[in-house]
Amino acid sequence: MLQTWTLEITIAVVSGLGQIMKDCKSHTVCCWIGLFPVILTADPDIASSVLRSKELLNKSKTMYYPLDLTFKGGLVASPATQWVHNRKMIDPSFTNKVLVSFFPIFNKAKDDLIERYNVLVDNKEHKILKSLQTLTLGITVETTMGKVMYRGEQVSKGLAPMYSFVMNILSAEVLMSFLKLGFILELYPKFRKRREQIYQFVNELIQAKLKRGINTSNNNSNTETSDLNNIASNSAIPSIRKEPKIFIDQAIKLYQNQQFTWNDIISESITIVSAAFETTATSVYTTLVMLAMHPEIQQRLFEEILDMFPEKDFYVDFDQLNQLPYLELVINETLRLVPSVPLIGRHIMKDTEIGEHVFPKDSQILISIFHLHRRTDIWGPNAEKFDPERFSVENFEEKQKNAFIPFSKGVRNCIGWRYALFAIKILLCGLIRNYKFETDFKLESLKCTTNITLKYILEPKLRLTKRS
Ligand code: HEM
Repeated sequence: MLQTWTLEITIAVVSGLGQIMKDCKSHTVCCWIGLFPVILTADPDIASSVLRSKELLNKSKTMYYPLDLTFKGGLVASPATQWVHNRKMIDPSFTNKVLVSFFPIFNKAKDDLIERYNVLVDNKEHKILKSLQTLTLGITVETTMGKVMYRGEQVSKGLAPMYSFVMNILSAEVLMSFLKLGFILELYPKFRKRREQIYQFVNELIQAKLKRGINTSNNNSNTETSDLNNIASNSAIPSIRKEPKIFIDQAIKLYQNQQFTWNDIISESITIVSAAFETTATSVYTTLVMLAMHPEIQQRLFEEILDMFPEKDFYVDFDQLNQLPYLELVINETLRLVPSVPLIGRHIMKDTEIGEHVFPKDSQILISIFHLHRRTDIWGPNAEKFDPERFSVENFEEKQKNAFIPFSKGVRNCIGWRYALFAIKILLCGLIRNYKFETDFKLESLKCTTNITLKYILEPKLRLTKRS
């Protein structure tokens, strides 16, 4: 009931943003959202200048306050002073080398998903977003926190719905905080309970890891990587590196060196998992929906994947992933048309000149990635259509470069953008190679909220057929 109610508010406020820009016939407008003056923009040059500015590293206070409160800090919402230190400390856990070491986990998850979807081959349409969220949550917990989850029932029975619930309420709280009413949701007992359960889960996980870490040094063996190595040894996949600096190992090391507080470990852990799993699942799901709506594009992609992986059972490595150009175009076009993070914001701490505008101190600038990605003067009259070809080398234009920012830009961009692309590509390779996806849903009927993370108002169902 509360979730339906908050969704209604979200839809009303968000559809208003697009309307404001339309009414003002401008892609940058000053307006009031609730009780706060904001600058709303879908201008690529302004967005680019703001995101690249070293002066504008603080997140919009109203928009990110509920996240800051819930995660007790964390990269996504923390103030610039704290963020600069923590981002520098966490960046090494997202290097190419570390990410490539996750390939066995991504591949295992792909195989798991293919097997699970067997039961959906029955000529009926199915909702699959939840199953994808469960899977990506499992992958994220394993790759960042070092805990194997997706093979058990724990994620589906407990953690995934808990995280999803908290994220849903948070999205609504963000909008209500523009009316200074966010506190109402803070009073909601179920929200507080779920939030507490997530803290407890992360807390116990880190405590256990710390304990194992101490034992580890006593035993002189590396149990921190044991979950990763277990998978490697259980399947016919290339061996993985000996000492991955996955996020949790890095965070614990920083804590032991007194460069991270206990709160830093907890808040950054919750933040990274929250930022990763829904966005990745939404992107995989949206790509499948787009492909189901466009059978000829799906066929072309299937043929590219079939060429690379003639067998149904296969392992995707880094080099192969870079030789699938059409897959790249399809994912880019999906992230353009339906970006998993449609709105981002910065706080102006002092009067700041951007181009010919002066943004006054204490105002907030909201960049609508969703509207920027659909501007007809940049993307052409068919901007609302799904056409991967627009990202081909011949078609992609200079003016579109700053207008395509699904992972944001500048130093405070998405720390997990390469992680996300690797995971999305590997999962899609497996699914498209093994299943054909169909739907009766039409692109024009697609309705989603363009809040802090994208949510489907009506989730298109998909029909699955096995590929031979
Ligand atoms: C398709 C999937 C994803 C999309 C579209 C996406 C998009 C974004 C966007 C637009 C931002 C906001 C940046 C800003 O305010 O300028 C962001 C931030 C962030 N994302 Fe992602 N993201 C995705 C997946 C991931 C994954 C897989 C992870 C982690 C494994 C992750 C971790 C983060 C973190 C920690 C931040 C805050 C970064 C900071 O402020 O330093 N994201 N993401």
